Amino acid sequence: MEDGEAGSVNSQRVLHLFICGAGPARRIHELIDLAHDEGWDVYCAATESAVQHFLDTDAVAERCGHPVRTTYRRPGETPTPSADAVIVAPATYNTINKWAAGVADTYVLTQLAELTGLGVRIVVLPFVNQSLAANRIFLRSVEELRSDGVRVLFGPGEFEPHPPRTGDDAMTSFPWKLALRAARD
Ligand SMILES: Cc1cc2nc3c(=O)[nH]c(=O)nc-3n(C[C@H](O)[C@H](O)[C@H](O)COP(=O)(O)O)c2cc1C
Repeated sequence: MEDGEAGSVNSQRVLHLFICGAGPARRIHELIDLAHDEGWDVYCAATESAVQHFLDTDAVAERCGHPVRTTYRRPGETPTPSADAVIVAPATYNTINKWAAGVADTYVLTQLAELTGLGVRIVVLPFVNQSLAANRIFLRSVEELRSDGVRVLFGPGEFEPHPPRTGDDAMTSFPWKLALRAARD
């Protein structure tokens, strides 16, 4: 796979940010701004659902200074520098389960599969309600990813699921800072 193989052209640490299709994707600028403040060079990739329902990709690209990747690099396109750290946020029930199960049928899932194997630092900040979080498949997936060395910020003091239909309120206190701290430390 060619994406993610090139070295960084400057001394900034490179953060790969994978954005899935849940409400906080609309506020991804909050995480990007915090990351920029900490000196990260941020490269975003987004799932189809994120792009379709939540994300203004032009605005995100302008903020980061890099295009938002949704598919594989074509010949002649500039490669994305290798990641010093990866954040998946907001991470959906769907992506977490497919990733843990080894499914790689989209650009984002394929990148995550490769990065997991490479041992790059990966931080996952889920956004799921209490119903989705209570599903044993989800809990099993979280454990699978953790056993692969992925840092999943799920549980007391980290992301705590909200009651169904309260996502709009929960979004306002989404703990972006915890993801950045875990990517850094
Ligand atoms: C308005 C809206 C809100 C959604 N909120 C969530 C959510 O909070 N958490 C979640 O896991 N999925 C949520 N979904 C469902 C996901 O978008 C859906 O499962 C999708 O297949 C996820 O694709 P992805 O994992 O490739 O981004 C929402 C969908 C819509 C349209």
